[in-house]
Amino acid sequence: MSRLDSFIRRMQAQRACLDSAAGLIEDVPGVVLELGLGNGRTYDHLRELFPGRRIIVFDREVRAHPDCIPDDADLFLGEFTEALPRVFEQVGKTVALAHADFGGGDADRVAATAKFLAERLAPMVVAGGVIASDQNIPADTWESLPLPDGISVGRYHLRRAVS
Ligand SMILES: C[S@@+](CC[C@H](N)C(=O)[O-])C[C@H]1O[C@@H](n2cnc3c(N)ncnc32)[C@H](O)[C@@H]1O
Repeated sequence: MSRLDSFIRRMQAQRACLDSAAGLIEDVPGVVLELGLGNGRTYDHLRELFPGRRIIVFDREVRAHPDCIPDDADLFLGEFTEALPRVFEQVGKTVALAHADFGGGDADRVAATAKFLAERLAPMVVAGGVIASDQNIPADTWESLPLPDGISVGRYHLRRAVS
């Protein structure tokens, strides 16, 4: 598979999982976390999917399209390790959807980030809430969900908090 094909499939998987998550949390109140603003593409999609919800966004820096930069109150700059505990103090266990798209680069660093996110997100996501991620971030209190039709296993990850 060419890198172009692989990129397109990853984007399709990402969109399908976010669209699926929107249906899954329809009746689950709470905020949305976007971990990895990047260019702002998925943040923009989340804004369309969840016009009535607060979307809290994380990244170590702003490199997004000018139309996709969150308000200051919803933008937490810095490492996830530093910013996520601050947001936990602010919102507690009120997260209905956490979308994490942070992969790329050093494999050990990505694995450490996945481990950190599993530990720190688990107390924040409400029962019935969903975790969509580009990396595998398992937690004891989350169950794996099937991926939307046509999306290969491992291309994206969907989980639901059971408690
Ligand atoms: C692949 S990009 C996100 C792309 C985005 N979802 C989009 O649609 O444009 C990953 C982003 O995660 C951020 N990131 C990765 N690890 C991070 C960490 N440990 N703390 C803060 N930001 C991190 C990077 O700076 C980068 O902007």
